Amino acid sequence: QKPKILVARAIFPDILTRLEQLADVQSNQEDHLWNAEDLKAAMANKDAAIVTGGERVDADILKASPQLKIVSNIAVGYNNFDMAAFSAANVMATNTPDVLTDTTADFGFALLMATARRVTESEHWLRAGNWKKFSIYDTPLSMDIHHSTLGIMGMGRIGQAIARRARGFNMNVKYYNRSRLSADLEKECGATYVDRDTLLKESDHIILVMPYTPENHHLFGEKELNMMKPTATLVNIARGGIVDELALAKALQANKIFAAGIDVFEGEPTVRPELLALKNVVLAPHIASATEKTRRAMIELAIENCLAGLAGKTPPNLLKA
Ligand code: GLV
Ligand code: GLV
Repeated sequence: QKPKILVARAIFPDILTRLEQLADVQSNQEDHLWNAEDLKAAMANKDAAIVTGGERVDADILKASPQLKIVSNIAVGYNNFDMAAFSAANVMATNTPDVLTDTTADFGFALLMATARRVTESEHWLRAGNWKKFSIYDTPLSMDIHHSTLGIMGMGRIGQAIARRARGFNMNVKYYNRSRLSADLEKECGATYVDRDTLLKESDHIILVMPYTPENHHLFGEKELNMMKPTATLVNIARGGIVDELALAKALQANKIFAAGIDVFEGEPTVRPELLALKNVVLAPHIASATEKTRRAMIELAIENCLAGLAGKTPPNLLKA
């Protein structure tokens, strides 16, 4: 008998068709946004589920799914999983690291450059008919990337990939992380370890790439923003909850910092009107990993994890509580 698998969100149709040959699949190709009750009902009689960061899997849902062996996340971040509840229910959890590292780092850099060089704002300015002549200074003036100081918060695989890119721009790279990298890895990434306050005070550009945990909820608030240089930029490709968005909107409004680039929002897909009203912020709809090649690789890996778990093997990306 084929295993029963829930695929909670729409995936590439050809990949779904292949999975349907191996399993009895309930899919959601209409991409309905399920609430907790919908998800619970859909998961109740499944052996496995493949979900995204948009689906919160907690004790309540796990308790209602007695057959469930594994839940496979199509994402590297897994703050949507209550890991203690997974342990208690003896259900495996997996994520999709590595396959998205370079694509996500590329986008982090794209957002950094768009933010510092006012790419989107300038385009809006041009489209609004403001470009009447070439002007030396009556034009959207911006901040340099090259030879500036980049502060990376969160030096995992993606943070390291960003540091490697920064070397090509002759940036002075500083990082803060819960644990320090080995001397060899620091050298290879060309990054210097500093404490959090130093990073906040000395960086020209700060990029957030750490995982979201209860400890770093609203880690970036008024106090941290006040410590930044008024000429500095802040880029968030980690998770929305890390930044106090109201404090950020106020800081941007008052020009306490130069600009921000944001790919992840606390209440996504809803974006605060306070942020939407600002010019000095570049907004993106959670797309750092969204190239077709990488999104396909993420789904393939999520399926591989899922099938390994169902076959009684250790999935390649098994998470620990
Ligand atoms: C996306 O945000 C991910 O965690 O992969
Ligand atoms: C600007 O376009 C220049 O030619 O300096």
